[in-house]
Amino acid sequence: MRGILLFGPQGSGKGTQGEKLSAWLQLPLVVTGNIFRSNIKSGTALGQLAQGYIQRGELVPDEVTNQMIQQRLAEPDCVNGFVLDGFPRSVAQAEALHNFTTVTHLLHISISDAEAVRRIAERRTCVANGHVYHVLYNPPKQAGVCDSDGSPLQQREDDTETALRRRLDIYHRATEPLLNYYRQRQLVFDINGEQLIAKVWTDIQAIFQTV
Ligand code: AP5
Ligand code: MG
Repeated sequence: MRGILLFGPQGSGKGTQGEKLSAWLQLPLVVTGNIFRSNIKSGTALGQLAQGYIQRGELVPDEVTNQMIQQRLAEPDCVNGFVLDGFPRSVAQAEALHNFTTVTHLLHISISDAEAVRRIAERRTCVANGHVYHVLYNPPKQAGVCDSDGSPLQQREDDTETALRRRLDIYHRATEPLLNYYRQRQLVFDINGEQLIAKVWTDIQAIFQTV
């Protein structure tokens, strides 16, 4: 069983590398932000609740998020493990997670805030499944169209500079301290995210080839 957490600030490449890792290890990719965004799109009660928080760049309350993840990880496709992007983001969420599953790796991808701002400004995501592109660093084959599913690409509602600054601030205050929690358990693998996408990917693969 592999319980893999993708951890790092906004724009560090959790979504970009998560897609590759999930396909390579044949484990389901669970992205909290994508689950919220698809619920917002289809107008569910969960989506209505989450929308304001996400637009402002704030965290959705724990009781909602914890239950959503517990239910998702209990689905049969997660029996051999999962790649989890976006959870936990606080010590309280980490403690909840450990009540219902096992974590084997935390991949900590680090970049500076200045790099996050540069990347997010030109990010595009696909409407259907949240696949991630960058206008310059990782463009789709055809401008404005997802390579994987053909759906249109758009900018995320929370990719404004104001919301991004708030998200980075919450990351440094509430989420980053979690690293200590996982370092004490010797589950952290540090990765330099300020390298080409292909190099970050080979660094991640190396972790699973040796451990
Ligand atoms: P979420 O969707 O998880 O967003 P995030 O954490 O803010 O992270 P991002 O998706 O912005 O960054 P990423 O690391 O995935 O970067 P990416 O690969 O796209 O969460 C959104 C919201 O949902 C939260 O604000 C909150 O409201 C709510 N939420 C989610 N989880 C929650 C939780 N647990 N509790 C409560 N609320 C929660 O890459 C960024 C860009 O850079 C792309 O354009 C990409 O192509 C490019 N890029 C990637 N790698 C490189 C590279 N090496 N070189 C150059 N460009 C690169
Ligand atoms: Mg992401």
